[in-house]
Amino acid sequence: MKKKPTPLFVRNVIPWYLREGRDLPWRATRDPYAIWLSEIILQQTRVQQGLGYFLKFLETFPNVSSLAHASEDQVFRLWQGLGYYSRAKNLHKAAKIICDQWNGEFPKTFDELKSLPGVGDYTAAAIASFAFEFPKASIDGNVLRWTSRFLGSHAPIDDPKTKKTIQLLLDDWIQDASAHSFNQASMELGAIICTPKDPQCHHCPLSEECVAFQNSLTNELPIKAKKTKVKHQLVTALFIQDNQGNWAVSKRQDNEIWGGLYALPLLFTDDTSVDIALENLLQQFDLNAKDIVIKHTWTTSHLLTHRKLQVHIFSILLEDMPRNTYKFEKWIGVEAMKNLGFPKVFSDFYKHKGLL
Ligand code: ADE
Repeated sequence: MKKKPTPLFVRNVIPWYLREGRDLPWRATRDPYAIWLSEIILQQTRVQQGLGYFLKFLETFPNVSSLAHASEDQVFRLWQGLGYYSRAKNLHKAAKIICDQWNGEFPKTFDELKSLPGVGDYTAAAIASFAFEFPKASIDGNVLRWTSRFLGSHAPIDDPKTKKTIQLLLDDWIQDASAHSFNQASMELGAIICTPKDPQCHHCPLSEECVAFQNSLTNELPIKAKKTKVKHQLVTALFIQDNQGNWAVSKRQDNEIWGGLYALPLLFTDDTSVDIALENLLQQFDLNAKDIVIKHTWTTSHLLTHRKLQVHIFSILLEDMPRNTYKFEKWIGVEAMKNLGFPKVFSDFYKHKGLL
């Protein structure tokens, strides 16, 4: 039987990656714990931002057992600023599962890895290939982009059928290579060369057979069927201080935005004016606008995955009444703040106030 030709990706992209790929710490290890940590951090975060967090996590929690034994507040605090906090919650949960159910030993197969909270197809394939050379392609938005362009495919990349087709194709190609190098090279190509805007086609190791490049289609591909809608919301919050400078916070519920983090007393609204939202928020905490001095201190906007938040924080000073008169969950000062995780909007506010 005639031997199947080696795919161009394996012939050209892997040598390019080995020659020119970035030196990143998670590429130099086969430790599944460190690889898992890096992949969870990089799920929705750019390498440049994620790098410092990865090093800080690995220094604080050098192994899965130290992470499992940390408090949730400690994990959230270290995660502060990265966003998508369900990742931190799942990271902690998975570490506990590995310690309790796997005797502290990292699961090794694709299916076992996928059973961990926060680990989907992409991350399971990444860990299995990087740590154990398991031949499964990691497919995310970056990989779908370069494959769609390379194949000249107009199939929408947000259609699960498209992902399945590409998974089958790359799972075939990966058989001809080191699974580690294949997936790292594929991620690197999507990150450095085949970028969403201004792809570097003249430096691309696939350009000789890239249908999009050969037919000037790189601006049109890939195709997305659905447009993501952004919802605009107002967040009204209170920075309410007693006369010793402590302020009120509460822990967000798991099913809320910023679940697990600490936030100022706040209200999310869709179509209200700031004045009405403030009135409702004060009412919620039995505060009477006539009895307190309200200063409007800070406004900012903040982007979440499908929301654009307009944030208004009002400063209120409580002079005379003992603070336990009020319905706030917790009062903290500067020292206590250092051990808790806050959403970025609030840590930015603390910086603005000179508290951080
Ligand atoms: N993004 C997700 N995983 C990555 C990795 N291993 N290297 C670079 N970027 C990544």
